[in-house]
Amino acid sequence: MQSLQLLQRRLDTIHERHLYRQPRVTVDGAEPWITINGQRLLNLSSNNYLGLATHPGVKAAAAAATQQGCGAGASRLIAGTFELHGILEERIARFKGDERALLFSSGYVANLSVIAALAGPGDLILSDALNHASLIDGCRLSRAECQVYPHCDLNALEALLTQSTQSSHARLRLVVTDTVFSMDGDIAPLAEIVELCRRYDALLLVDEAHATGCLGPGGRGLIAQLGLPHSGIITMSTLSKALGGFGACVSGDSLIIEYLVNTARGFIFTTALPPTVIAAALAALDILEREPQRAEQLQAHGAFLRRGLQAMGFNTLASTTQIVPVLVGDSVRALRLAEALRQAGVFTVAIRPPTVPPGAARVRACVMATHEREDIAYALEAFGRVGRRLNMVE
Ligand SMILES: Cc1ncc(COP(=O)(O)O)c(C=O)c1O
Repeated sequence: MQSLQLLQRRLDTIHERHLYRQPRVTVDGAEPWITINGQRLLNLSSNNYLGLATHPGVKAAAAAATQQGCGAGASRLIAGTFELHGILEERIARFKGDERALLFSSGYVANLSVIAALAGPGDLILSDALNHASLIDGCRLSRAECQVYPHCDLNALEALLTQSTQSSHARLRLVVTDTVFSMDGDIAPLAEIVELCRRYDALLLVDEAHATGCLGPGGRGLIAQLGLPHSGIITMSTLSKALGGFGACVSGDSLIIEYLVNTARGFIFTTALPPTVIAAALAALDILEREPQRAEQLQAHGAFLRRGLQAMGFNTLASTTQIVPVLVGDSVRALRLAEALRQAGVFTVAIRPPTVPPGAARVRACVMATHEREDIAYALEAFGRVGRRLNMVE
């Protein structure tokens, strides 16, 4: 069949460009040390940043909630809203300091749905060049005009906002940005972006996937860390990373959430999150509240790893968080570094285009609060040895 041959040729091209990917099977992928093909490896590739995915209290809460069923059985606006959904939404709204919150099936679905609900043809979206794929896909789905500003470039963002006021075209302006950038580990200049949005009457969607549970007082995220006003800001927090579960929550002004309930297709046309997932998230929030030191430990580990890598001569870009990239440029070199690290007992993944721009391939290391300091020292020793052997550092 010609269509299948066409797909085979496209797959061959992915192989030829060293961009082929496939899932690896692990039995314990959320742990600080994991086993892949029988080999024990230090896990520097997990978003289970605080160790809550495997916390006994979280597991017990999820198990107990199976008494209410393994699935919600319907979408939220039909018969799928349990008391637990409302409890978690109120809890997250309070945690984030927002008026109201709304659960979504995943961070990916939330970003897609919220952007497509807020903006449409004739509207204008301004998006950071290094935003997560789900934000990019949301912009495409919305069919609004989308302009991409260079990464964290406030002058460029302001120029686009100014331009937009000169045309009678744009009905609604929406700025979208990650707060912690997932492949670079750096943070957006959020205070300045919020001020620009206020001045130019733009809504702001911030993706706090890698900030929730990790940054700010008690892990409340970057908005809380900077003490920014919340009006007109829509925050997307995943339950799937530091909170160790699954799903996502969008929070903000009551009016915006009410609007999303009535327009966000990824909320309306899908089955509600099951009670187990909700109970796990509530238990994770309890632990986060009781043990804020987890987030502090996470950032201390990130700083230790980053300083060590920089001292050896690795380029960690502008990372300041628990995500520490090691830029190597070329996809083949990134694959070679990840493979050599694996042989040395450290599990990292080579991040290649289209996840990052061409020529910006890297190995990305993510620490966990549940790593020991000796684990990070072990990783540094491996990076140094392997980096010298591959002539990546002196
Ligand atoms: C910045 C960012 N936003 C959104 C997502 C999607 O979240 P989820 O994994 O819950 O779909 C991710 C994770 O993959 C992410 O890194």
